[in-house]
Amino acid sequence: MQITVTVNGESHTRDVEPRLLLVHFLRNELGLTGTHWGCDTSNCGVCTVTLDGVPVKSCTVLAVMADGKQVGTVEGLERADGLDPVQQGFVQCHGLQCGFCTPGMMITARCLLDKNPDPSEQEIREAISGQLCRCTGYENIVRSVRWAAEHEAAEAKA
Ligand code: FES
Ligand code: FES
Repeated sequence: MQITVTVNGESHTRDVEPRLLLVHFLRNELGLTGTHWGCDTSNCGVCTVTLDGVPVKSCTVLAVMADGKQVGTVEGLERADGLDPVQQGFVQCHGLQCGFCTPGMMITARCLLDKNPDPSEQEIREAISGQLCRCTGYENIVRSVRWAAEHEAAEAKA
């Protein structure tokens, strides 16, 4: 089945099997391996991408369901003037150790800040509740997202 999916602003047309998962389409067909594949059962959240601006677990979405839609992956987070504040926050606050959960965490954090630019710690914890991190204990991830929120607020005032 032929599908055309726009990923990080670039259109891709491929013939795919109807059973192909979006995570495998991104990784194996397009070589976008920043989207990770962990549990395959919708539990870990490392496969999170945006589909028409909404975060989804790409192991639970068929590639054919993304036909004609916009997908955003971690490779598309960077801005023209440098790293996205969410990426900077993870660097500044040591929001990762092994990094396996990081792409999904950053996509979810970006979506949160787009909706709620000044989230509380509780709101951040709720937003990332579908993402598992086996390394950090979440403290530095929460700090990273708060850093990004504060950095963006300062940028907006400048
Ligand atoms: S691989 Fe998708 S939720 Fe774990
Ligand atoms: S940094 Fe290792 S799983 Fe989160």
